[in-house]
Amino acid sequence: MAMKVRRRDFLKLVGTVGVAGAALGLAPPIVRYVLPPVLKGEMPRSQLVWEDCSPVKASELKPNVNYVFYYPLIDTVNVLIKLETPDGKPVKIPKIRVPGDMNPLTQPPAWLDGVITQDELEAALRTATSGITYEYPAGVGPDGNIIAYSAICQHLGCPFPALRYYPPGQPAQTNPPEVGGNGGVFHCACHGSAYDPARGAVVLTPPTVKPQPAIVLEYDSATDELYAVNVVGPTIAGKACNTCGKTVGPRIVIGENAEPAKKQC
Ligand code: FES
Repeated sequence: MAMKVRRRDFLKLVGTVGVAGAALGLAPPIVRYVLPPVLKGEMPRSQLVWEDCSPVKASELKPNVNYVFYYPLIDTVNVLIKLETPDGKPVKIPKIRVPGDMNPLTQPPAWLDGVITQDELEAALRTATSGITYEYPAGVGPDGNIIAYSAICQHLGCPFPALRYYPPGQPAQTNPPEVGGNGGVFHCACHGSAYDPARGAVVLTPPTVKPQPAIVLEYDSATDELYAVNVVGPTIAGKACNTCGKTVGPRIVIGENAEPAKKQC
């Protein structure tokens, strides 16, 4: 026997199915909004090359210049520096345990005289706030004075050239002024954060409370060539993870005091 459906019940049923259908239709975009897609890739091993695609040799790098390159993502900018004292001596950068967050040291960088003492290294750790630390690797190259850092500021994300290395003798505007008055700091012009390039980019002046992530470099002493192989420290500013996005290829171009040409080698 055929079941009779009253007109009012039928309309109620149609309404319920319609609302449920609309909700299901909207579900994927809502889920995507709440959980943005995270594309996690492998950390690349990438050789540094000049704009003509020839390999960068450590001995070709000029001291105290900002060499700019993208790593590990095609949109995450970094600066490589070959540190030298004002009188031309290479500054050997030791391995150091760095705090993940810290109170600023508010002191000038001590490396300008070419000597980095154990006390200077440990000063950074004494100001750690959360207790989380990580190991920053030593400088590379024949003199152990080649280093690289993310050039996206850990405060609010200002990138190179706002955040860049000021060589010895080129004053950076810090608060207090004496911290960057003789240069030798990694400094962000947006709000004044300064970092120490010789101590794992620990914080010298606020407002940042986090060191800059460090790019781990590898040096091939047989060929004098350089590779970027990893990132250590806080997550790169503005990224959900250091490999969330499109990673760079096996060769990455560097630019001298300017962003490199966007090209594949
Ligand atoms: S973004 Fe660099 S100090 Fe604020």
